[in-house]
Order: sequence, then structure tokens, then C-alpha cells
Amino acid sequence: MLAPVSEVTSSRVETLMPPAETHVSAPVLLLAGSGNHPLANAIGAELGVRIGSCTLERFPDGESFVALNEGVRGHEVILLQPTSPPVNDNLMQLLALADACRHAAAERIVAVIPYFGYARSDRRDGRRTPVMASLAATLVQTAGIDQVVTLDVHTPTIEGFFRVPVDNVTAVPLLAEALRSRISADTIIVAPDVGALRLANRYARHLGLPVAVCHKQRMTATEVNVARITGDVAGRPCLVVDDMITTGGTVIESIRALIEAGAPKEIRVAATHAVLVPGALERIADAGIEEILVTDSIPVVPRRLGRAQLDVVSVAPLLATAIRRLLDGGSLRELA
Ligand code: R5P
Repeated sequence: MLAPVSEVTSSRVETLMPPAETHVSAPVLLLAGSGNHPLANAIGAELGVRIGSCTLERFPDGESFVALNEGVRGHEVILLQPTSPPVNDNLMQLLALADACRHAAAERIVAVIPYFGYARSDRRDGRRTPVMASLAATLVQTAGIDQVVTLDVHTPTIEGFFRVPVDNVTAVPLLAEALRSRISADTIIVAPDVGALRLANRYARHLGLPVAVCHKQRMTATEVNVARITGDVAGRPCLVVDDMITTGGTVIESIRALIEAGAPKEIRVAATHAVLVPGALERIADAGIEEILVTDSIPVVPRRLGRAQLDVVSVAPLLATAIRRLLDGGSLRELA
């Protein structure tokens, strides 16, 4: 007996763009896994279409089961699924949906993966470990996905793990605009580690602000240490920016180091992906943050936690634009 996980309703989107206006002559179908129904519905609303109907279930032993409830033969299929927690279930469901579409003779399968799980495992670091990001990319392609769209993926290296086109779009302009009226002119953007510097520079360009960098060392999956900061943060309100918040360890340790270096307790955090394992948000709020701004790449509910306000900016318009351009045969360069 199968235990239902979820089901969404659907529609084809031939009406979205008449063939004459697109490079795509095949009909288009938007399908969503169970990773982020609110975002899928918001993207569907932006595009003016329903989400295709599919059955998403799990066997009692944990195996995934999916079934397409409408035909995809000759269709352009857009598959929406973040591989966020439960990472393995969501990844497997994405692969299963792609395989179902491939076997049902879809013309082209585009995966829109708003959060790409395992992205941080992009090298071996001299140890006998797998490169999970590369493995995930191989699985996605093997399942028959022809093209991939990601959002603020952890590292551009990932593009190289694919032999199919990958377009990475960014939520930085959306988040930066949402922050513009909330931050003061003397704010400094803080990269919580050297890896986040590229992202921090993008925020800095959008907001016309300087950048400081924390030099982070990771001891374990949950323990990090910031030994020094490059940049003058003393007396300046800080905006800590990162691609994701998982346990909150990176953000919390950065805040500790910033306050120790003389920054006032007027600290904001912006991150694209609210992975937020249980307890993370409470720990971050306890660290004395004023505001946390994230996107809905992973389902998250805005709320207040003590002094901290968690706000959410939707990436639905951005991803809808990316999908529209893709179907039009246009460039996604401006969104990257
Ligand atoms: C690391 O390189 C990432 O960009 C994030 O800084 C990190 O993954 C956040 O994880 P956590 O919240 O567990 O410190």
C-alpha cells in the first residue's frame, strides 16, 4: 500500500506563448516534485498556468514512486524541484520524474533546481571522499535531463560537472533591492568566509557599499571558527551575506567575530537558500541578529524570533522569467 506524499494539479501551457512567438514548436508542460509546492504554484501563477498533474508517493520502505497523470509525448517539460532536505528523497524524486518523462517520450526535459543539494562537495580536498556534486550532476544527466537552471549555486565549478547546458541565475539583485531601504549608508557588506567573497562583491556593487571578509575555518559540519577579519567593521552596521544558511554556524561565528572587532549589534543577514536545519533559526536569533532575509528557493515561513525578523523574498518572478526566456530561445545572461 502506498502512502501518499503529495499531488499537484496541472495544465499544459501551449497558451503561454503561441508557437509563432517562440522557438519552441512542441507543447510545454510544467511539472513539480514535492520539494517546493508554494514556489511551483507561484511560478505557475507568474506564467499564468497550472502545474502538470503527477502522483508523488513513497512506499513504506522509503522508495520513491512517481507517475505522470498526463501525456508528455513530444512535449517540452519543465521540471521544478529543489534538492533541499530531505535531500536524497528530493533528488531521487527529480530523477524519477525525469525518467518517467524520458520513457513517456518527452521532447526535451529542463530541470529548474532552485537549490542544488550536495553542491558544497565539489572537490576531494586530498581525502578519500566522493565528489557528490559531480555525482549528482551525473545522475541528473543520466536520468535524461537535457538542460538545467540553478539559482545562486554554491560554486560555478558545478557547471563543469555537466555535459548539458547549465544556466545559473542569481537572486542577489532581488535581495539587495529588498534591503536597500532597510540598511543605513554606513553599512559594510560582510562575506562570512572567503568562498562568499564573490557573492559579497555582487551585493556591494548593487548597494554601493564596501566589503569585509571573515577568515573562516571549518572544524566539523557544525563547528567553524573565524580567527580574523579583513576590512574595517568597527562602528559600522554589518550585512552578512551568504549563499545558504544550514546549521547557522557560519553566520553565528561571523557575528561573534564582528562584535569582537567592534561592530555594533546592528547586524543583518541575507542568504539565498534557507536550508535551516531544525534549531538553526533559533540559534541565529539568539546570536543577536536584527533581520534575516532569505528567498523561497526552499519553503520557509516569514516570522519573528525574539529580536530577529525572518523575511522572505520570492524568486518566482525571476524563475518564471528564466523559464519564459528559455522557451523563447532567449538568453539568461542578464539574470546570471
Ligand atoms: C559554505 O561554504 C557555505 O557558503 C555556507 O557558508 C555554509 O554552508 C553555511 O552552513 P552553516 O549554516 O551550517 O554554517
